[in-house]
Amino acid sequence: MQRRDCDAAARGNLSDRQFAAWQIGLDSFPASLLTSTLVEVLYHELHRIDNGAFADMNEKMTIAVVYGSARQGRFCDTVVNWALTELWAESGFRVTLIDPLELKGTGEDTALNAAALETKIAEADAFIVVTPEYNHGYPAPLKELIDSCYEPWHAKPVGFISYGGVSGGLRAVEQLRQVFAELHTVTIRDTVSFANVWAQFDAAGNPFKAAEAKAGLIVMLRRLKWWARALKAARTENAYSGVAA
Ligand SMILES: Cc1cc2nc3c(=O)[nH]c(=O)nc-3n(C[C@H](O)[C@H](O)[C@H](O)COP(=O)(O)O)c2cc1C
Repeated sequence: MQRRDCDAAARGNLSDRQFAAWQIGLDSFPASLLTSTLVEVLYHELHRIDNGAFADMNEKMTIAVVYGSARQGRFCDTVVNWALTELWAESGFRVTLIDPLELKGTGEDTALNAAALETKIAEADAFIVVTPEYNHGYPAPLKELIDSCYEPWHAKPVGFISYGGVSGGLRAVEQLRQVFAELHTVTIRDTVSFANVWAQFDAAGNPFKAAEAKAGLIVMLRRLKWWARALKAARTENAYSGVAA
């Protein structure tokens, strides 16, 4: 399977998810069926095709991208899909997605699937939380997700991509730093932030200030990866449970 060229003309009016599908030849895949799980599979496939086997160390490292919003019609999809495109090109790590919308029960059972969530969090070596700001805080579904387990977060780094109105979601991030400290994580100083987010992306989901956004992500990512490697090595040498108790 060959990945197709990523030029803008080829992209046309496709959404990010349709575009990811198109790149590996699933042109006719209905957009409504392109869930975040499927996007994850597509990005893995793209990564595998372009980079071949990962280097030994990176192969074992996983960054989980966490959706902060579970709102229908959420802007979060646009921001996550942009981040995935850059991560795919830059991270060298395996990337997984943690999406409260996908992990919710159906019908009246709206509780998160705690077991599936815990497994995903446990398997990750680092996290990028993509959060909007709601009333000067972060969304309730994100808190539910964070509170779903405890130890699987321990001794791992967390980076943030935030968005919102005038504050660009930075107030939500500052609150999240307090929460993540309680979970024995290390939060990354540098945040990628989109103020007035609805004016920051074109119809195809690309930031108007693409170079600026990418530069911010690369700084955060470089530091996130440093911590991910350092903490993985430390956890391997000496289980964190010994000091967390
Ligand atoms: C209930 C609610 C409260 C909001 N409060 C704020 C706020 O305090 N500060 C801000 O900058 N933006 C605020 N916004 C704007 C959101 O950050 C923006 O609409 C964002 O796109 C929402 O993310 P989502 O579409 O992924 O759910 C609010 C939006 C909603 C729905």
